Amino acid sequence: MKETKGENAKTWQDQTARRGKCDLTGWWENDLGSQMHIFSVNSQGDFRGEYHTAVSSAQKPIKPSPLHGSQHLDEDGQCTFGFTVNWKRFSDSTAVFVGQRFVDASKQEVLQTAWLLREKVDSLQDDWKATRVGRNVFTRMNFKEE
Ligand code: BTN
Repeated sequence: MKETKGENAKTWQDQTARRGKCDLTGWWENDLGSQMHIFSVNSQGDFRGEYHTAVSSAQKPIKPSPLHGSQHLDEDGQCTFGFTVNWKRFSDSTAVFVGQRFVDASKQEVLQTAWLLREKVDSLQDDWKATRVGRNVFTRMNFKEE
């Protein structure tokens, strides 16, 4: 079996074992086509990763962006988590996501999230229009055998 993307599940057994827990490590894709890679989660539930957004309102070309987060380590597999994405490589904005992991009826892992995206505005008078809110649903990217 070929491991296509780094720390994602190496084997089918790994993926099956992870369904019962709340390990966010790996590659995820959302309903906009954005992808994120969560590197290893430490014993405190803290993690880092890289976010590849599919969309942007910035003028510069999109680049992969660092994310920092923290998750609960519940044994029931339905943990809550949060992370920040700093888009500094191409934008002045900052995003925060909060969410919860579930396993759906077809045994797929899903992350239900909500986000706030803060844009930089020129003055206090423009503060009213600086924050957007939305939701994204992420599913795990599974890499097939070749
Ligand atoms: C910007 O446009 O200033 C930076 C990129 C913002 C991307 C947003 S964050 C919330 C939403 N979900 C995504 O996957 N991408 C967009």
